Amino acid sequence: MPASIHKYATVEEKILYANGFFDTLVVRESELSPNKLYFRDDLRKIWLYQANCLELMDYLIEKYPLGKFDMIFADPPYFLSNGGISCQAGKMVSVNKGAWDKSRGAEINHEFNLEWLKRCQKLLNTNGTLWVSGTHHVIHSVGYAMQQLDMKILNDITWEKPNPPPNLSCRYFTHATETLIWAAKNHKSKHIFNYSDMRVENEGKQMKSVWRFLPPASAEKIFGKHPTQKPVKLLERCILASTNEGDLILDPFNGSATTGVAAIKNNRQYVGIELDQDYLDVSVKRLNAVNK
Ligand SMILES: C[S@@+](CC[C@H](N)C(=O)[O-])C[C@H]1O[C@@H](n2cnc3c(N)ncnc32)[C@H](O)[C@@H]1O
Repeated sequence: MPASIHKYATVEEKILYANGFFDTLVVRESELSPNKLYFRDDLRKIWLYQANCLELMDYLIEKYPLGKFDMIFADPPYFLSNGGISCQAGKMVSVNKGAWDKSRGAEINHEFNLEWLKRCQKLLNTNGTLWVSGTHHVIHSVGYAMQQLDMKILNDITWEKPNPPPNLSCRYFTHATETLIWAAKNHKSKHIFNYSDMRVENEGKQMKSVWRFLPPASAEKIFGKHPTQKPVKLLERCILASTNEGDLILDPFNGSATTGVAAIKNNRQYVGIELDQDYLDVSVKRLNAVNK
């Protein structure tokens, strides 16, 4: 394993490197992070790493300082698992997606967003683009961080969910949307936009920035569930709009590899990074089932 991978691993280095603010996050994640290649399919060009994406992206930046990826899709922690309630199949359930989704407070959450976005920006090819999805809990911080990094925001897409869960408290509108921000590496980039393909997909009219997709169907969850799994169709739209066949796509918060499934279905190459082994196991099964 390259030496750089260990840079967060000891307390001394962590304090020196992180300067106090970032340290809790870094140490905890480093202990969790084995940084290993978990699955590879060189024929179909799929690589899954079990790692803390901050560490693995640092390693990739050392290896590819001029960038490597044509597109990055990131569905980061939303920081919304903080004891709220929601409605699932008619029942009241607690909103608890896992320890990785707990808020650490607005400032640390923002610092985290800035750190992974900084790395994504470096890893994009000159004309590559980044998609980030999220709810209001995270997406405003992401948009602000992109501005701090001088990225070029190309669109914000509203993903409208036609069947949102009812709001049990009756004190809010139902939460029926998520936002995707689409951004280029910087203001000089000449990003790819497959305008004609999008127009065909929208029955001959220009594609709007409001997209309607159902949440993932049960057929997309036969290998196991991820609490924040995205629909494959949503990812296919992003990929078809902004990449060409053979392009290399990264997802630093792989989850159940929805991005990978959409990439492989459309003849793109895929690298996914995920901390949790259970989600990686679901990912491997999903990826193996594509085109078979
Ligand atoms: C919002 S979910 C992504 C869901 C994914 N889009 C899907 O469709 O399955 C975020 C994922 O990031 C993982 N994660 C959180 N922090 C991470 C980190 N620092 N490095 C790598 N993975 C991380 C979590 O375990 C979780 O599976």
